[in-house]
Amino acid sequence: MSLILINGSPRKNGNSQYITDFIISILERENVQYKLVDVKNMDIAYCTGCGACEKTGWCVIKDQGVELHRQFDESSATIIISPIYFNSLTAQVKAVIDRMQAIYSSKYVLKKPTFERNKERQGAFIAVAGSPPYEEQFVGAKFIIDMFFKVINTKWIETMLINDTDAKHISKRDEKLKRIEDIVMRIVQKMD
Ligand SMILES: Cc1cc2nc3c(=O)[nH]c(=O)nc-3n(C[C@H](O)[C@H](O)[C@H](O)COP(=O)(O)O)c2cc1C
Repeated sequence: MSLILINGSPRKNGNSQYITDFIISILERENVQYKLVDVKNMDIAYCTGCGACEKTGWCVIKDQGVELHRQFDESSATIIISPIYFNSLTAQVKAVIDRMQAIYSSKYVLKKPTFERNKERQGAFIAVAGSPPYEEQFVGAKFIIDMFFKVINTKWIETMLINDTDAKHISKRDEKLKRIEDIVMRIVQKMD
């Protein structure tokens, strides 16, 4: 079994990085095999919309992004951590998601999936937003996550939307960290 952990923040010492390190400590404690996708440190190009995946079901860009196609396929779970930028995901997370268009193309355009559709996969989304709560703060991000998890045949079972992170760093919010630990444990328990 393996879990994919995506850190979508470009910042080295922000809230997402702290949450990522915290989750890794739980996964290591529980002996869970995981793959860290720390987008800021990886070679992942933007989708160019070249259309090649509509002919073959695979992406032609040879970088670490293309490897994620198989890694999502083999995974039992995905946890996405993203800051909220303009009520949406960061460009880093969106770059990963757009590169999985090859999975979409293989399923819905070619109708010859290059991805196992019937495997059980669990998904969680953790968002950090700098401002105090306001309407629509997480709306854009949630729409994209919903579609992405559907494309990678992953059940979206856990969500945590954390606001006010510019004033209150997550490292000082014990009750939030406890909730994150509960989410990770629920995902781990459901992995086969
Ligand atoms: C380009 C940019 C856009 C942002 N847009 C929003 C926003 O729409 N809503 C919000 O609540 N915070 C917004 N923020 C604040 C971030 O969500 C906040 O700083 C968050 O803690 C960043 O995540 P990190 O600490 O993991 O890097 C924005 C920050 C940046 C740099």
